[in-house]
Amino acid sequence: MMIQDSPAFGGQAYWANAAGICQPLVGQLTPLANSPLRLYRFLTHVEDILLTVQEDEQRLQLLCPLVQRLLADSPWLAWPDLVPDPVLGWGVQTLYDEPFYPLTVQRVAWSPGAKSPIHNHGAWGIVAMLDGQEQNTFWQDSPAAAIPPQLEPGVTLTLSPGDILGLMPETIHHVEALSPHPTLSFNIYGETNYDQRWEFDPLNGTASLF
Ligand SMILES: [Fe+2]
Repeated sequence: MMIQDSPAFGGQAYWANAAGICQPLVGQLTPLANSPLRLYRFLTHVEDILLTVQEDEQRLQLLCPLVQRLLADSPWLAWPDLVPDPVLGWGVQTLYDEPFYPLTVQRVAWSPGAKSPIHNHGAWGIVAMLDGQEQNTFWQDSPAAAIPPQLEPGVTLTLSPGDILGLMPETIHHVEALSPHPTLSFNIYGETNYDQRWEFDPLNGTASLF
């Protein structure tokens, strides 16, 4: 289902739960008094949501429409001026990261064909595509619970410009840049639990904190 009240940044909205099941996200934007929605004002609204809503799924339902509204009002965020590192295959521009404030806001670019490790974030996260296409593969734990998890690839989801994806702290995924030019996305993450943020190697059955 489309998120409502976000006519100018109009893609599909999804969220992927802790079990790696991806589904349409239903969210509604509380009417905002000021337009356009500037980045500093967006951050205030995000903080209000985090202070009043404790459950991450509910937070994502409220935050995704807010991100869509920000992107609709802030075309500068889509400027293709972020170049991925040619060796690493990705580049990050921090837009906001204040000490002792549980929020990280970034733009992220991936080189064509680049792949991330299989990982979770240990925090809720939102990825909104601004340019290019990014394929997400969600990984699922095998029915026989094991440590480290015995992972199996599940569904894939390709994000195109205008699409937005919410991730739970436990959601395991990896991404691959599909487009022939660098991708660009707007990413926002909550407070990271570094004791629960893992990279996984399913071939060797190992996991390591990062
Ligand atoms: Fe990720």
